Amino acid sequence: MFSARTYDRASFSARSASSDHRFRFVEARLTTDTAALAEGSQAVCAFVNDDLSDAVLVQLAAAGVRHLALRSAGYNHVDLDTAARLGLSVVRVPAYSPNAVAEHTIALILAVNRHIPRAHDRVRDRNFSLEGLVGFDLSGKTVGVIGTGKIGALVARLLWHFRCNVIAADPVVDPGLVELGVTYVALDDLWPRCDIISLNAPLLDSTHHLVNASTIARCKRGVMMVNTGRGPLVDTAAVVEALKSGQIGSLALDVYEEERTLFFEDRSSDILDDDVFARLLTFPNVLITAHQAFLTEEALAAIAEVTIANLDDLAAGRPCANAVTA
Ligand code: NAI
Repeated sequence: MFSARTYDRASFSARSASSDHRFRFVEARLTTDTAALAEGSQAVCAFVNDDLSDAVLVQLAAAGVRHLALRSAGYNHVDLDTAARLGLSVVRVPAYSPNAVAEHTIALILAVNRHIPRAHDRVRDRNFSLEGLVGFDLSGKTVGVIGTGKIGALVARLLWHFRCNVIAADPVVDPGLVELGVTYVALDDLWPRCDIISLNAPLLDSTHHLVNASTIARCKRGVMMVNTGRGPLVDTAAVVEALKSGQIGSLALDVYEEERTLFFEDRSSDILDDDVFARLLTFPNVLITAHQAFLTEEALAAIAEVTIANLDDLAAGRPCANAVTA
């Protein structure tokens, strides 16, 4: 298991004892430099920022690896064509806890709107001034949810309970949301109507840089943008310009376009060489968490359970319901 953190060890160790699988936990990210560590393993268990490109898959196959067990729902980081060519089977965890991600999305919206991190810092510093901490009522605001699959549908429901007017864009309509009062609109029509936009679509060719200079220009001035989907849904450079001009009023991110070389590590002693990310950190109206929306006890338990069940299927040569193909 690559990119294995203490919480991964804990959740997998608790469950693997009663299985036929033996895990070797490696803290390093999977890259061409670390792929050789998989020598002697039948399967590699990888997370979102592990490198599963052509070059790495070729190395893994040469080391004898037959299976890739993703601890994630998203598989945009896997070269599926190469995996198929090399006979590597790929399995994933399609839904470990949509609640975890949806609830974190709401936490970000509330926290950036009401300036909670800044307020907490001030109070700790015994600065009890409220200057600059004005937020807005969520009640009555129009929120656009882009992508109403498992996570987006929950985000829409939670926002509905905040008495927001929820509109959605997704080629697949969720009848339960329509029944609740959510209105589906064409993506093109969503931008100008929203006070808040939540990105919950997967990263595909068609969704890459969905938020860009021209779509931002079509938004209401001062819109709040929230991304808990995938970093490249957003053209970050365009977002920085829009924050500077005030076109985007606030921004909350759990994912970042270039997060692969940043997130999941303690970089507090390093010189930050990503100027775009460094600029984002200077805005008082930007809140960033480092891809932690999934991180709940329930989600970790589900990831371990489903991954072990996936490995059971692969080891037994059974078809796996969570197989991913090109
Ligand atoms: P899902 O597959 O259930 O739903 C995705 C929805 O997006 C589908 O309804 C699909 O029709 C829609 N969609 C596809 N293309 C679209 C487009 N061009 N415009 C609007 N909608 C479009 O996936 P789920 O479980 O809801 O997850 C969504 C994404 O959230 C994942 O792909 C992943 O990237 C991200 N995620 C982030 C996590 C985090 O920790 N920040 C954890 C888990 C997932």
